[in-house]
Amino acid sequence: MSEPRLRIAVQKSGRLADRSLELISGAGLRVMKGANELLYRIENQPIDLLRVRDDDIPTFVADGVAELGIVGYNVLAEHFPDADLEAMIVQRLGFGSCTLKVAVPNEADYTGPQWLDGKRIATSYPNVLGAWLKTHGITAEIVEMRGAVEVAPRMKIAHAICDLVSTGATLEANGMKATDLVLKSEAVLVKAPHAPAPELAHTYDMLLRRFDGVTASTG
Ligand code: PRP
Ligand code: ZN
Ligand code: MG
Repeated sequence: MSEPRLRIAVQKSGRLADRSLELISGAGLRVMKGANELLYRIENQPIDLLRVRDDDIPTFVADGVAELGIVGYNVLAEHFPDADLEAMIVQRLGFGSCTLKVAVPNEADYTGPQWLDGKRIATSYPNVLGAWLKTHGITAEIVEMRGAVEVAPRMKIAHAICDLVSTGATLEANGMKATDLVLKSEAVLVKAPHAPAPELAHTYDMLLRRFDGVTASTG
């Protein structure tokens, strides 16, 4: 039998990938990039990095396939619209800040959320947007898109979009303006619902302390 190893689910590529690896290195873990692209071994601890799409991280952690995960709060909120997210979150990580915003074409005479009533809104975040619309008492049709949401108004697929905004460059390049803040996001460390195997408890506690230390020192 091989020794048990702790698993941390991280984004393979994209918005949070580099900073997630920096956090892991900052915690003193030596990452061995091996032949296996899905799994990176940590040389000096019984830990593996499970490198997956960010959309898969909430499920992997909730199912206990990985004991910990580093994921955007936006992804977590979309995936578990009715869950107690605070119970899953170990700590906020202070990087990967972005916002989920409603945006409309520059020429739209946007007067406030009521403008959206009866309109079509394209998004990759149907659950988060749906909840926001509900709190504003707005009935709109949500058009779910996996990507390239910003082209939807030009393609006449939707009147507005609800998408992540970081620098604002994507909106500007597509002739749109942000109107409403739907969700503030940053990277968070999430944990599986069950405690790690007893043999791994020490490694797990050590890791949480170190992540806490790195996050505190980088502010
Ligand atoms: C998000 C979003 C926009 C872009 C916004 O996409 O969908 O395309 O970032 O960032 P900006 O305000 O700095 O231009 P992301 O890169 O996360 O990838 P995705 O579209 O594949 O989800
Ligand atoms: Zn998902
Ligand atoms: Mg994009």
